[in-house]
Amino acid sequence: MNIVLIGFRGTGKSTIGKLLANRLKRSFVDTDEYIINTTGKTIKEIFQEEGEKKFRQIEADTIALLRVMDKKIIAAGGGVVLNNKNVETLKSNGVLILLEAAPEIIHKRISLDEKTMHQRPSLTDKGAFEEIKHLIKQRQKLYDEAASHRINTSNKSTEEIVEEILFIIGNLKAEGNY
Ligand code: S3P
Repeated sequence: MNIVLIGFRGTGKSTIGKLLANRLKRSFVDTDEYIINTTGKTIKEIFQEEGEKKFRQIEADTIALLRVMDKKIIAAGGGVVLNNKNVETLKSNGVLILLEAAPEIIHKRISLDEKTMHQRPSLTDKGAFEEIKHLIKQRQKLYDEAASHRINTSNKSTEEIVEEILFIIGNLKAEGNY
């Protein structure tokens, strides 16, 4: 069983995923990093050269490969929920935990994150902050339906978030569901 972190850009999936993997002595897989390594291109280059549709196809192919992985901590790209097949695959051998944060906080985090330049192409022509609000609203239902657990990361330290996830996993283990 994997632990899969889903949620919008800047909610902490990669940071928390790495910390959690360290704590649990598990390996960490970031779907965007996987795509960068296998294609030899940045996410932004794929969007610019081949378009979002092609990126979503590569992303779906990547998720399909994860089906055979076990005991991994996976940080899934923010848009994986757009394709129901991705969600089904991830759910088939994983606990999906939704990380959330207020749009203002997401905006601040992703403008300060150096990953943004290569990994986060604009997805609309709305401008950064409006895009965040718009896409969260548009995707909220999909995130809600995909996740079995959710954590608001807005005003929490990384340690607190990792502890919350460990608590969730502990409960699932006690119930025999992990
Ligand atoms: C995307 C999120 C990004 C990356 C791509 C598209 C999205 O991943 O997959 O830029 O549609 O929300 P992060 O959530 O890791 O930033």
